[in-house]
Amino acid sequence: ASDEGISSLKFPCAFGSLPAIRTCCRTMSVPLFLWGRSVSLILLLFVPGSPQVSVIVDREVNAKLGSDAKLYCEVKTPDIISQVTWQRKLSPNNENFLTNSKGEEPMHLTPFGQRVRFLGNGDLGGSILIPNVTLADQGTYLCIFTTFPGGTKEGRIHLFIWVEPSVEVQLNPVLSGPNPDIIAECVAFASKPAANISWDTYGLPHSSTETPVQHSNGTVSVRSQLWMVPSPGLNGHQATCLVSLPEQMYEKLIHMNITNIQYAPQAVHIKVIQRDTLYIECWADGNPPVTYTWRRGNRSITDDEAQVTGNTLYFPRGNTDNNGLYVCEATNSIGRNSKSVYLYKYSDAVPRGSYGAYIAAIVIQSLMILRMVVYFIKRKRREGMFNCRCIEGQNPPEARDESRHLDADQSDIKCMSH
Ligand SMILES: *[C@@H]1O[C@H](CO)[C@@H](O)[C@H](O)[C@H]1NC(C)=O
Ligand SMILES: *[C@@H]1O[C@H](CO)[C@@H](O)[C@H](O)[C@H]1NC(C)=O
Ligand SMILES: *[C@@H]1O[C@H](CO)[C@@H](O)[C@H](O)[C@H]1NC(C)=O
Ligand SMILES: *[C@@H]1O[C@H](CO)[C@@H](O)[C@H](O)[C@H]1NC(C)=O
Ligand SMILES: *[C@@H]1O[C@H](CO)[C@@H](O)[C@H](O)[C@H]1NC(C)=O
Repeated sequence: ASDEGISSLKFPCAFGSLPAIRTCCRTMSVPLFLWGRSVSLILLLFVPGSPQVSVIVDREVNAKLGSDAKLYCEVKTPDIISQVTWQRKLSPNNENFLTNSKGEEPMHLTPFGQRVRFLGNGDLGGSILIPNVTLADQGTYLCIFTTFPGGTKEGRIHLFIWVEPSVEVQLNPVLSGPNPDIIAECVAFASKPAANISWDTYGLPHSSTETPVQHSNGTVSVRSQLWMVPSPGLNGHQATCLVSLPEQMYEKLIHMNITNIQYAPQAVHIKVIQRDTLYIECWADGNPPVTYTWRRGNRSITDDEAQVTGNTLYFPRGNTDNNGLYVCEATNSIGRNSKSVYLYKYSDAVPRGSYGAYIAAIVIQSLMILRMVVYFIKRKRREGMFNCRCIEGQNPPEARDESRHLDADQSDIKCMSH
């Protein structure tokens, strides 16, 4: 055949609707006089029922940072395969990093190629393994088979590197109050792609705000703030932060116990107990934990008078004069609250143990205490007899006429009488 008798034919990719990722697109030289026959011959290669040529690959491979990524590639062809070449799509030119010719050792062509292991997977295979993948390994890879007489066939794989976030929970102290505040924060550091953070507060209303920060290496940190009303009762409640990456690549649940709502000591409770000994217990709910101090009137209590152990004031045995006003002050770093009890020994009573019976009147504010005591004593004198009455004053001094008189069993104190 003469030179004029040769022309170039280009077969378009659409040829033969193959299941391959991309095949064909090659240039063939065909003698002109054979044109018609060649075309039909080549067409015969592709008509249904004839062997199909296809390159089988995983189009998308997700590999975790630091893991070993296998890029699977195989050609299905009756042709003779002479070589497989791997390329990375780089700009402006692709990088050939590895080739393997039939019957020879694989050639690692670039520093990147040095890292890569050729797996092969049989005569028709050309898979590779990239160990310990880095973010820089993300990209598009081509496995290109050189076959005869079919020419080159290529498969295309997109390798995506994902990065697990490191997750941290923060529960910073928050003052109790009526308005929503940041109760907890959940941070997913440097993940790829960005993490999705959601919250479960087990029935309590909440909202959350997410703030993503993009890093130059392609990772994203996401901070999620949980907003709830910081009521003292929220302490001890559970909350869960759910951090996830798409497609179930990663999921982490972090359970937490809300313990960071801070509030001053709430209502102070006092209980006067007379058993073998006489003692007064004081208790108030507060966060941080409450400490207690005792006073008698406006002075501190001497060791002779009573022993202070934590929230309890123990009186010594013996017929000592314990009459008077005792103040329990409950304090934490947020505030303080106090309650007082007036102990009055009812000497006419049948002695019990080594004591007479004590009457206890509990009041809240010292200003009020004075009035209450006066009232109490006057009332006792007026009635000329004694009922175990516990008086609890909860009103400000101005409202003294509305002071409530509670029976012992309605009050939070125990009255010592019989
Ligand atoms: C994986 O790669 C990282 C950074 O490229 C390196 O610090 C680490 O030692 C490597 N691990 C292994 C097992 O080769
Ligand atoms: C984030 O996670 C929550 C809970 O799993 C889910 O309801 C929501 O659709 C997710 N959002 C996105 C953007 O994936
Ligand atoms: C990406 O950048 C962030 C912020 O600089 C860094 O904390 C993180 O370790 C980096 N991740 C990788 C995989 O290099
Ligand atoms: C939550 O915290 C409260 C108060 O500290 C504690 O009593 C409770 O046992 C904790 N619950 C869990 C599940 O840790
Ligand atoms: C408190 O103490 C002062 C002396 O330090 C005394 O004058 C005052 O009467 C006391 N007040 C009460 C209510 O006991």
